[in-house]
Amino acid sequence: MTLLSSLRREANVAVIGAGGGIGRAFVELIAGDERVRRVHAFSRTPGDSATGRIVPGHLDLTDEESIAAAAQVASGDVPLDLVLVATGILHRGKSIQPESRCVSSTHSRWRKCWR
Ligand SMILES: NC(=O)c1ccc[n+]([C@@H]2O[C@H](COP(=O)([O-])OP(=O)(O)OC[C@H]3O[C@@H](n4cnc5c(N)ncnc54)[C@H](OP(=O)(O)O)[C@@H]3O)[C@@H](O)[C@H]2O)c1
Repeated sequence: MTLLSSLRREANVAVIGAGGGIGRAFVELIAGDERVRRVHAFSRTPGDSATGRIVPGHLDLTDEESIAAAAQVASGDVPLDLVLVATGILHRGKSIQPESRCVSSTHSRWRKCWR
């Protein structure tokens, strides 16, 4: 499958938030592209071992050292061609749920999301 027309052969890709719904879907889609050499799948709870082109790695956005270490792992030898960030909070139990309009949100929900 052709994902992006501009992706070069032997592409080196990183997905941050690879454990989430969107991130996981991107990892699988990109790893299925023949031009891709490696997909670094960063998550706070990465799997143990590489599978095919997918290499799991640790990254927590609230921990700068983990970001620096992840950058070193992903681009230490070969520059990255594509970085996808799929992190965020869509829902957390009943306290945070998706809403379709900003006015549906509340101050306390915003505080929870930005903590
Ligand atoms: N799904 C939708 O229909 C939709 C629509 C519009 C926008 N969005 C937005 O797109 C984003 C992802 O959505 P989703 O459905 O994939 O949500 P999700 O399944 O809840 O995934 C959230 C992702 O964010 C990561 N994350 C959260 N805090 C992190 C941190 N401190 N460091 C590193 N990673 C962190 C999680 O990583 P871990 O694996 O480490 O937990 C997880 O991969 C959210 O911002 C959401 O609001 C989603």
